[in-house]
Amino acid sequence: MTAIETLLGELKANAERPFAEARAAPPGIYSSEAFLALEKERVFSREWICAGRADAIPERGDYLTFRLVDEPIFIVRDQGGEVRAFSNVCRHRMSLLLAGRGNRKVITCPYHAWSYGLDGRLRHAPWMDASPAFDKRDYCLTRVRCDVWDGWIYVTLDPDIPPPEDLFRPVGEVVTDRYRFADYTETFREEHVWDTNWKILAENFMESYHLFQLHRGTIGNQSRIEEMEMPAGGAVFNYHWITKESDFPLANAHPDCAYLEGEWRRTTALITIYPSHMITLTPGYFWYLSLQPEGAGRVRILYGGGMAPDFINDPRGAEHVAEAKRILDAVNEEDRVGTEAVFNGTRAGLARPGHLSFLERPNFEFCQYLARRITGSTAMPDEPDPL
Ligand code: FES
Ligand SMILES: [Fe+2]
Repeated sequence: MTAIETLLGELKANAERPFAEARAAPPGIYSSEAFLALEKERVFSREWICAGRADAIPERGDYLTFRLVDEPIFIVRDQGGEVRAFSNVCRHRMSLLLAGRGNRKVITCPYHAWSYGLDGRLRHAPWMDASPAFDKRDYCLTRVRCDVWDGWIYVTLDPDIPPPEDLFRPVGEVVTDRYRFADYTETFREEHVWDTNWKILAENFMESYHLFQLHRGTIGNQSRIEEMEMPAGGAVFNYHWITKESDFPLANAHPDCAYLEGEWRRTTALITIYPSHMITLTPGYFWYLSLQPEGAGRVRILYGGGMAPDFINDPRGAEHVAEAKRILDAVNEEDRVGTEAVFNGTRAGLARPGHLSFLERPNFEFCQYLARRITGSTAMPDEPDPL
């Protein structure tokens, strides 16, 4: 058996155990180049990958650049107000077109000034009329599949995957609809690269077991482990609930918020939409990561967040936004240190995976998801518990 076959066998065996016997995933999945190649082919090229919030590009011509697996793309709000995605590569001699984010009425290549409309069609190509074989009607930027769901932009290289609205409906029904998430406003969006495997950061986000220790300097004492709930997730997502102390007002419903009642006013949802879209959704603020591998030991992170409308519209809105960002940056830095340490640990020859706690059920479901996608396992989470 080759090393990768052994590794896939270990992953599958772990995913097919009962949860009560489950262990952390085999360490090789975090550092193997062969495993990374399979992830790119069987996971990242075939799933919807989150490119952030649609309200980051509110006006016609607003654009964002993004990398989808290894493809540079851009996402733009077109003349009709639709969100579209294109390859960010010029159809002439293949220069990159756009960088960062901004607004354009026309997209002009920085190299020889071929220019494209917001529909991707080539409008103008200087001096090309003298080339008889050239017809500008033959040229359009390459479209990339793009869709908006619950305020999120998703892009995919897969022509056949069902739309997010169909795939992710259970996420809305079970978790996000009650928060009216589509009405939240994004207040920051950043990109980072950390020295860890993407799955270690994903797994860190989906369990709150580490809060009391790794985050003891920040939010550790604001979440109640004894009140956490980890219902079974589904084929496309996992989630859990935690409740926040009322002395952390930004994580509680705003006094003007009329649609959340009782315990929901202080309940936070932590959601992972597979493979790598992680969301913390509180009644006051939200934040998210969208992860892609930059190599086995490096993760490319889209990191953003924002607030519910009542907090944004509050006279102290700007203060709330700054306060949330300050806390999130501090928490994120603790997670960087923690997940880089885990990556270094998993590379040790003496590393052995231990049993998972009951608080790490989402991690087990994530392992099942990977095993389904990569090894052909049919392991599925148990039926969701009634809420
Ligand atoms: S590469 Fe874009 S115009 Fe030449
Ligand atoms: Fe954390």
